[in-house]
Amino acid sequence: MNEEVTEQTENWEQVARAYEKVVIRNLLYEGMMDDLVQPLEGYDHIIDMGCGPGYLISKLLKLKTRKAVGVDFVEEMLQIARNEILDPDELKRTQLICAEVENVNLPEGTFDAVVSSNVLFNLKSPQPFLSNTYKFLKKGGRLVITSPHTKCNFNQLIADIRQDFKAQGNFEKNLQYIEIVEKVNRRFQGERSENEKAFMLFTNTEIERLLLETGFSKITYSDTTYAGHNFLVVADK
Ligand SMILES: C[S@@+](CC[C@H](N)C(=O)[O-])C[C@H]1O[C@@H](n2cnc3c(N)ncnc32)[C@H](O)[C@@H]1O
Repeated sequence: MNEEVTEQTENWEQVARAYEKVVIRNLLYEGMMDDLVQPLEGYDHIIDMGCGPGYLISKLLKLKTRKAVGVDFVEEMLQIARNEILDPDELKRTQLICAEVENVNLPEGTFDAVVSSNVLFNLKSPQPFLSNTYKFLKKGGRLVITSPHTKCNFNQLIADIRQDFKAQGNFEKNLQYIEIVEKVNRRFQGERSENEKAFMLFTNTEIERLLLETGFSKITYSDTTYAGHNFLVVADK
């Protein structure tokens, strides 16, 4: 998401609220969170880059030995994380930072893992984000990223989410929020047809090359996450 999108749709507070009500409250998303948690088993000090409302952090911190840093440049997202998603014990073990993932300043070489879910496709360029991420990891630290791949069908994804709400009997109650998410999505799609680079989508080969260039190794890739709309890549420093 970027400011242009929100200027032409809703304000950040509404977008953050719609994101919390719609995007993280469905089975597809829950499945994606499980896919992210699994390769992080055994990793305790974790940064979530573009953490949004903090749902993944809360899930990771169910393990009491863990600590997390959540970075997001939308304060309204962090407010939802702080006030509604993280419980008091999780909050004590979390540092929430309002900053850009490309420029955030954190101690270098100190984190066990960095995770980032559905953020890469929003960035102007992947390199500053990947280089920053690499710096913060310990040697042997792990990076886990999911983001839409080049074959992602955004309209189908929204249709899948609508269907999921209908199946749960929550559709009418959440329709106003579903419509905001659809509006933001349409805005993105419009930008994309004018400018192919409005979304950063990657093939297997492209993401692998970027990670190797950044210095990562032991790269594994799958494209079945988020009902097949996303890739999930795991790489080690
Ligand atoms: C689609 S949401 C994903 C949120 C969360 N990771 C999840 O999976 O639910 C994208 C998030 O990335 C944040 N974001 C996008 N670009 C960013 C940047 N350059 N720096 C920091 N945060 C960014 C947005 O504010 C938003 O919260």
